[in-house]
Amino acid sequence: MRRRSLISVCRCRQQKKSFRRLRRANASVVTRVTPGIVGGIECRFVDPANPENFRRATDAKTRCYYAETLPNPKLTVFPIGEVAKIGRALGVPLIMDNTAAPVLCRPLDHGAAIVMHSTTKYIGGHGTSIGGILVDGGNFDWEKHKDRFPMLNTPDPSYHGAVWTQAVKPLGPIAYILKARVTLLRDVGAPMSPFNAFMFLQGLETLPLRMRVHCDNANAVAKHLGKNPKITKVIHPSAMSGEAKKRAEKYLSRGLGALLGFELKGGVEAGRKFIDSLKMFYHVANIGDARSLAIHPASTTHSQLTPEEQAQTGVTPGYVRLSIGLEHIDDILADLDQALAAV
Ligand SMILES: Cc1ncc(COP(=O)(O)O)c(C=O)c1O
Repeated sequence: MRRRSLISVCRCRQQKKSFRRLRRANASVVTRVTPGIVGGIECRFVDPANPENFRRATDAKTRCYYAETLPNPKLTVFPIGEVAKIGRALGVPLIMDNTAAPVLCRPLDHGAAIVMHSTTKYIGGHGTSIGGILVDGGNFDWEKHKDRFPMLNTPDPSYHGAVWTQAVKPLGPIAYILKARVTLLRDVGAPMSPFNAFMFLQGLETLPLRMRVHCDNANAVAKHLGKNPKITKVIHPSAMSGEAKKRAEKYLSRGLGALLGFELKGGVEAGRKFIDSLKMFYHVANIGDARSLAIHPASTTHSQLTPEEQAQTGVTPGYVRLSIGLEHIDDILADLDQALAAV
């Protein structure tokens, strides 16, 4: 889904701007996997601390901005409205990966043009099915910026010369998603299996209810861990201050999310020991399950990076990431406490 969200508007020697704090796997998709498939798409990483950095990094070949609403491990909320506004003035659409904040954040309301979700996470809710969705807000004028989007504004030889911005005229400004559907789905495959679609629809029916409990539990965990002397730092929007707090309040008005990180004084060894000592939390790299999940990135997902590279992504040796589930809060806290006691 991440690749499809990009190659609907980018091809060789074009570029997109990305958000420096993308999570590891997203960064890898944009810098390595996508260029490997379509060749030569340039990706520039931009620090969103100052949204104006996006304007500075934009040039005539920029095709889109791509960012995550609530990127782990740093969990600093992306300035969606500020960057979307800059992009609209320059003719650059903002694509938001809202996987970590469904229901909580509505990026289209803040000016994003496209939203994508890995439905494997909160939408499915059980980590049983792999899938994704791409949503075109129908709010971006792809025709007005012909030079930026030749793939949508010039005849497509793979589809009887269709010009997508013209072909969609009776439907509205949805050239992006129509092209994604009729050419990319055909060319690169990976349509969702009907059974997975069924599972995701089941999940969607309880999503708002689940998100409320996820968020309440995570707030309680953040507060509780903040008091533990073995922990030097809790990373959760509820524990932030200044600009990060303001952004969280503005964009996550329906709840601060259920991803949470903390740093153990004891470094890598403490991180490993903590994970090994958990009894109820599952040790997996996934997020957004009904069950509580935990991972120690320095010894798993980020272990192929140098310590310096790990630090750049926000992963310190003792950093542990939690995805707080729907279990009773007493059980969640009890499991964390007994694993911390073992460190
Ligand atoms: C924020 C985020 N986006 C995207 C993905 C993955 O999406 P997909 O594998 O569908 O590209 C993940 C998890 O792997 C994720 O955490």
